[in-house]
Amino acid sequence: MTDPRLAVIVLAAGQGTRMKSSRAKVLHPLAGVPLIGHVLATARELSAAHTIAVVRHERHAVSAAILELMPEALVVDQDDTPGTGRAVELGVHALPADFDGDVVVVSGDVPLLDAATLSVLITAHRTAAASATVLSAMVDDATGYGRIIRDATGALIKITEQKDATAEELAILEINSGTYVFSSSSLREQLPLIGTDNAQGEKYLTDAIGLLQATGQRVAAVPAPAAWMVEGVNDRVQLAVTAARLNAMIVRGWQLAGVTVQDPATTWIDIRSTLAEDVALLPGTHIAGATTIARGAQIGPQTTLLDCEVGENATINRTDATLAVIGAGASVGPFAYLRPGTELADNGKIGTFVETKNAKIGAGSKVPHLSYIGDTTVGVGSNIGAGTITANYDGVNKHKTVVGSHVRSGSHNVFVAPVTIGDGAYTGAGTVVRKDVPAGALAVSVAPQRNIAGWVVEHRPGTAAAADAAATAGPDDPAGS
Ligand code: UD1
Ligand code: MG
Repeated sequence: MTDPRLAVIVLAAGQGTRMKSSRAKVLHPLAGVPLIGHVLATARELSAAHTIAVVRHERHAVSAAILELMPEALVVDQDDTPGTGRAVELGVHALPADFDGDVVVVSGDVPLLDAATLSVLITAHRTAAASATVLSAMVDDATGYGRIIRDATGALIKITEQKDATAEELAILEINSGTYVFSSSSLREQLPLIGTDNAQGEKYLTDAIGLLQATGQRVAAVPAPAAWMVEGVNDRVQLAVTAARLNAMIVRGWQLAGVTVQDPATTWIDIRSTLAEDVALLPGTHIAGATTIARGAQIGPQTTLLDCEVGENATINRTDATLAVIGAGASVGPFAYLRPGTELADNGKIGTFVETKNAKIGAGSKVPHLSYIGDTTVGVGSNIGAGTITANYDGVNKHKTVVGSHVRSGSHNVFVAPVTIGDGAYTGAGTVVRKDVPAGALAVSVAPQRNIAGWVVEHRPGTAAAADAAATAGPDDPAGS
């Protein structure tokens, strides 16, 4: 149920300089979703009446991503005044003028914070009737963070940024996570009063805490259950650390749900993928995007599935697949490359060194070895010979190949599209199929073989082959047979 007295402001206007990237920091992917997607998912769980995201750097890309992930969010632009205080001030401006409630402030670059922790913070804030409640954390190394300054009784006084801190303050290991609950009236009152007279020339949101405390309002800091929950991603080292931590949690979750993961350290599962009981993942496997895997399927080793659908008891070995559907009991690989639009029906096979694209391969049909099958449909129960290529591209346009049911095509064929091979037809080895093959016909296009007797002895004298030929060839070998 929506909480009419709750609003969330997501800060995403910062530049993310330390990522050294042309891509906005909050759009770097983590478990298959942009960083900010994790924050928005948490925000959504709070069922706030209003969710506002403040953007500036790379605003087009960032706001497009935000609205795709959370269409109900309101995107607000930050102006030329820098700082988290200004960002929140503009966010609050965007709230309805009569909104009177609590405002949760979260950072777009803190992806692992969960809704349960935020709910505890909101409850603490409301129970204490506080003006501001800060989520803090105890860390081993506080470098870069704002420090939580408490008095002798432990009451929160203010937050001091690293760059403005005294030596004594720098020694404090309780840090500001950058996550807060404020009463909307306190923010409306205090934010206009905050200046930019500090080491960074920015309007610090953290100054609101000291101002509220000084005017006798109730402020508090509540430590998070664990420091990793509030760790921000500021550079690519932190991105990798955060990704590994999130992945470990995702993998563990699936293990507890009945998935065998032989080597959690080399298995990556994106947050939007889903797996059924008795799925087995072998080492070096990445289940990416919105992949779904049905019961009993075995994936890996060394396999990446992006946005794929895998049926029950299928096996996929050393394969790279994108937007492919793999039926129940089907087998794929080793060393297969399934491109978008591949649909392998139940009990079908795409074997070793096979590439497919826009290929619908019917139930029980097999493409076992060394083939390229593109823009093709294959009926049921057909067998495509080793080394078959669908020549789907005439240099300008792509054309379709249609293979019927129960076809047996020979090895090393080329199907020159557009072409149709009828039900039950056969093709000889080495056939270049340029014309449609009627149902039940045998197509052959290879010239009859000619053997020229004695050719090696005559034309390659002095070679090992010629010596062998001389020793083994009978005197009465018919020439040219
Ligand atoms: C901020 C806090 C610091 C805290 C730390 C936790 C302030 C002044 N400091 O510092 O006390 O320990 O987070 O990670 O708030 N942003 C905007 N507009 C801006 C600047 C930043 O929207 O003008 C956004 C960023 O995109 C980011 C968040 O605010 O999502 C935090 O900004 P960042 O520059 O990372 O602040 P820190 O220096 O880390
Ligand atoms: Mg930061």
